[in-house]
Amino acid sequence: MKTEYVDLRDGKDIDEGLYKAAQIIKNGGLVAFPTETVYGLGANGLDENAVPKIYEAKGRPSDNPLILHISEFDEIKNIVKEIPNTAFVLADEFWPGPLTMVFKKSNIVPYRTTGGLESVAVRMPSNKIARELIKMAGVPVAAPSANSSGRPSPTKASHVMEDLAGKIDMVIDGGAVDIGIESTIVDMTGEVPIILRPGFITEEMLSEAIGRVEVDEAVKSLVQGLDFKPKAPGMKYRHYAPSGKMVIYKGDSKKVIELINEEIKKLIGKKTAVLATDETKDLYEADIVVSVGSRQNAENIAHNLFDVLRKFDEMGAEIIFSESFDENKLGFAIMNRLHKSAGYNIINV
Ligand code: TXA
Ligand code: MG
Repeated sequence: MKTEYVDLRDGKDIDEGLYKAAQIIKNGGLVAFPTETVYGLGANGLDENAVPKIYEAKGRPSDNPLILHISEFDEIKNIVKEIPNTAFVLADEFWPGPLTMVFKKSNIVPYRTTGGLESVAVRMPSNKIARELIKMAGVPVAAPSANSSGRPSPTKASHVMEDLAGKIDMVIDGGAVDIGIESTIVDMTGEVPIILRPGFITEEMLSEAIGRVEVDEAVKSLVQGLDFKPKAPGMKYRHYAPSGKMVIYKGDSKKVIELINEEIKKLIGKKTAVLATDETKDLYEADIVVSVGSRQNAENIAHNLFDVLRKFDEMGAEIIFSESFDENKLGFAIMNRLHKSAGYNIINV
């Protein structure tokens, strides 16, 4: 299949490009599009024949459910059974934006979209291209991140082309995304809302809006490197992973640098890499050193993380050493992604 690349970065021809994209989705095809978090791979989420194409293009296990994207709040009413009061408050506060809520699904949502679950995840993205596309398609758009399963999520259209060219109908280029890590997922089906995947919307922000919120035990233990069965099926897979072996060093910064450099010296004949920060990037002796941003700016680190992980692949890194970050606020989501990339390979210094 030929993948059509449509460049909408300069804002010209937006209507024409989006019209074509919406037709593809209506006709059961696949379109990758920008959102404020990461690029998504969209299909008609109510079309049982379209949804399996997403799984096939990504190489994604079919029990890993998809998020339905809407453009206006009213569109949620067809796809969920009930909306708790707290969800109205969260929607009011954070939609459109990087928050996904899980509800009991209505009958029109196929099990192929929900991976066989009775619940459905819903998000209203804030990216203009995304919202306009959903509106023009006239259906809830099922969209996972537009990467091959297991690879780092795409934050640029070029990342999508790398993974999916030849496998999908169209890629819309809307430039680099804003946030760079996927939405926060909150399960709204129980008494207390539970965070299933941390993201830009933090636990603190959620509980400020609605009071008590819990973090899924599995997510907590994943961040601490322990073993638990997570409720968001996607969180159980090794993910976001560069091809090289990756290990995270935690602890005093000076010691981390010293130990990593010692390890590098031992690895003769291997292409070594370090995921460093602006503050430390000149202090390493690896073949490849990439700064993910300044420690003073967690948002910038989130924005660059997946791009840096992909760069390691491009440059052929065989062994990747990574610094670690504070686990509070946005740092919790950053460390969640980093641990998954490293397959929970952590050294406490
Ligand atoms: O920011 C995002 O959320 C991006 C953009 C494109 O919107 N999408 C995204 O989708 O990250 P994906 O498929 O890569 O991740 C969705 C996660 C998976 O871990 C999946 O298991 C979980 O959401 N999920 C989906 N439906 C669920 C449900 N009904 N219950 C629990 N977890 C669910
Ligand atoms: Mg994904």
